Amino acid sequence: MPEPFYITTPIYYVNARPHLGHAYTTIVADVITRFYQMQATDVFFLTGTDEHGDKVVRSAQKENLSPREYVNKISRLFKELWPELNVNNNYFIRTTDDNHMEVVSQILQKIYDTGDIYFSEYEGQYCFGCERFYTDRELVDGKCPDHETAPEIIKESNYFFKMSRYQNWLIDHIKQHAGFIRPERYRNEVLAFLKEPLEDLCISRPKSRLKWGITLPFDENYVTYVWFDALLNYVSALGYPDGDLFSKFWPVAQHIVAKDILKPHGIYWPIMLKAAGIPIYQHLNVHGYWNIDQSKMSKSLENVVDPLQLRNVYGLDAFRFFLIREMNFGLDSSFSEVALVQRINSDLANDLGNLFSRIISMAHKYFDGHVPQVDPQVEQELSLDLQSNAMETIDHFETFMQSFEFHKALMAVWEFIGQMNKMIDISAPWVMAKKKSNQKQLAAVIYHLLEGLRVISGLIYPVMPGTSQKMQKYLGLDPASCFYHLDQLRTWGSIPSGTQLLKSIVLFPRIEVSEKAPGAAAQKQEGPPSLKIKPEIALDEFSRIDLRVATIVQAEPIPKAQKLLKLEVDMGQKRTLVAGIAENYSAQELIGKQVIIVANLKPAKLMGVLSNGMVIAAVDDSGPTLATLEKKVAPGTPLK
Ligand code: MSP
Repeated sequence: MPEPFYITTPIYYVNARPHLGHAYTTIVADVITRFYQMQATDVFFLTGTDEHGDKVVRSAQKENLSPREYVNKISRLFKELWPELNVNNNYFIRTTDDNHMEVVSQILQKIYDTGDIYFSEYEGQYCFGCERFYTDRELVDGKCPDHETAPEIIKESNYFFKMSRYQNWLIDHIKQHAGFIRPERYRNEVLAFLKEPLEDLCISRPKSRLKWGITLPFDENYVTYVWFDALLNYVSALGYPDGDLFSKFWPVAQHIVAKDILKPHGIYWPIMLKAAGIPIYQHLNVHGYWNIDQSKMSKSLENVVDPLQLRNVYGLDAFRFFLIREMNFGLDSSFSEVALVQRINSDLANDLGNLFSRIISMAHKYFDGHVPQVDPQVEQELSLDLQSNAMETIDHFETFMQSFEFHKALMAVWEFIGQMNKMIDISAPWVMAKKKSNQKQLAAVIYHLLEGLRVISGLIYPVMPGTSQKMQKYLGLDPASCFYHLDQLRTWGSIPSGTQLLKSIVLFPRIEVSEKAPGAAAQKQEGPPSLKIKPEIALDEFSRIDLRVATIVQAEPIPKAQKLLKLEVDMGQKRTLVAGIAENYSAQELIGKQVIIVANLKPAKLMGVLSNGMVIAAVDDSGPTLATLEKKVAPGTPLK
């Protein structure tokens, strides 16, 4: 029996309605769940809602509802959305569930008893908009970077969790467990953060300020605040401490989150587990943001996209396919309907859809809709590559899925689709069909193509379960048998000869952009962008720009600025620059790199840091790629 598998999404705040960002993470969890089911693995997939806190109370007041009524209402929206997106979670947890609140209480008491939670007076800079304290380092020009207002100094007694005690342990744990936080860039980000001393975490709020929360078991005047409640859902849902699910699934736990909550999951959570004597999870899988016009899709920016609307316009499988194929897990992606339509038309309608209908039509035309019988000798003489191509594709697919490189897993499948199309073009079945003496060759070619379709239908199962089943049905296979198991997929020759095929259908209709699709689909599809060159300049104007080679000697993230890194460079003299490259580069990987900078650009302040120059990079949909030199040269060398 393979090892079981446990996968979780973040539990979503109920102060916003579900949007495409939530849908992406949850669909990824569904995709990985289905992939493990392809190996007959026992999987537990958890999602849910995070329902305590002041923001919830305020949202409830705005709607004239009690907090309880309000959380019930929004939580239901999430719960009911998932089946609509063919997401098959095993359990839906709510932080207002009794058993969850009980577990939070137990674990708080346990950690309190060990002495890792202490009571202390805290004086700090508090932003009322964010409802949290800020450190000096986090403020920009002394102001909250979100609200751009100066925080107020407030004094409050609270409970604190001694995270600092576990800092060295966590650094060692991350270093000793390959892939503990992945992709690598986020592991490096956490390690960079851990280079500074960790502050203890404030885990409570006095009831005078917040009532809608879980009361501390050791002080009824306080409730626990945010992370000590939310993170524990991952164990309470399994029936911690002695539930069967907990003993079976906790040892194989993996989380999926976006980079916004890297710190709580990569730092607070392992330390909380360690302090509570609970084994540490196996992997934290971190993805980037869906952006709209360079900004994160979020309720506060009022740029959210409704997943149900997209499903209704484009179809569920096409929508799921787009999300998984378009985003490189770990990096940010831009969402646009133009890109969605292009993917549907090229990858689904043209590549997959055409291949499918072409092969099924040929089987109908030449073999009356029956799977032909293959003569092994003829098959051998033809030495067709498709079987070995298929096995190689399955291997690549499996490797990429295991490493959460979903877009690459799909690219491997689409490479196989290309190989099948090529085989059709080279073998030209329509020519073979003209000669009676070629019937056996024709049968072998069509049989292999049908087998190729069977393999594709299995490999797309995690991302497009509906289409997978539909293809199987048309291939005359019984969807109830475990057709998508990887072992089954590897068994070449599993479609019985003589099987009756259904008449061909269009799997994915092309989307005609001129024909106005309802709702969200109204944007015009554009052709390839024309190259827009800036107005001509004279050589002497160009020579005013001082381009220099510089070596990066130090790099660090800028708090609250997700895209920016602060760089110290050596260009014969030391310079500080701010570069908008954090989406694609971690601070660590930049050290020692030689880059090209504009050395005489007027200095500018970005997020409170004075930038003295600009790093040159190529910028496309996948973000910035640094311009570098072919070989190392002395720092400060000019470019002409
Ligand atoms: N309640 C906390 C999480 C507690 S987990 C113990 C929370 N909730 S949230 O509603 O803000 O959800 C954040 C998560 O939603 C992200 O980590 C990500 O999974 C998903 N996303 C929200 N917006 C997103 C994008 N624009 N792009 C990609 N994912 C997004 O944080």
